[in-house]
Amino acid sequence: MAIYAGCFCGSWMVLKRHSVWFALALLCSCAAAERKRTVSEMSGKQMYTLHCMLCHGEDGTLGNGGAKNLATSNISKEKILAIIKYGSANGLMRPFGKGKNPELNAMEIDAVTEYILKLRDGGE
Ligand code: HEC
Repeated sequence: MAIYAGCFCGSWMVLKRHSVWFALALLCSCAAAERKRTVSEMSGKQMYTLHCMLCHGEDGTLGNGGAKNLATSNISKEKILAIIKYGSANGLMRPFGKGKNPELNAMEIDAVTEYILKLRDGGE
């Protein structure tokens, strides 16, 4: 609570002295520090939107080009991590974590995995 109040008061004083946007940015970063978990969920979602949605769809059920339904999928977390990293055995889903310059690093693959596991319960 004290931290929140501090953040808010600080931002308010900045608001008076500087631009509104700067104060807004400060407010956001305070909120982000308070709620780290939400931030990592967000980035899992952002990565999903960027890299996976085209084939799997927003809720995981699209099935574009033979993509598996992620809402009904029941494979283990280890298998999910592997398929994202190395791609599917039939080559329809490309690898995201292989090679010199992988699209996603291990942390990102973990975040996106946490996100798609939640699609199984019918959303957030
Ligand atoms: C080019 C289309 C495409 C993209 C992009 C794609 N996938 Fe896939 N995905 C597929 C296909 C096709 C399959 C089914 C492969 C098979 O038949 O073995 C699949 C299967 C999977 C499976 C296995 C599900 C199961 O139950 O076997 C997971 C998990 C998965 N994808 C997650 C992801 C994630 C996470 C991303 C983004 C990082 C992603 N996919 C991006 C096409 C795609």
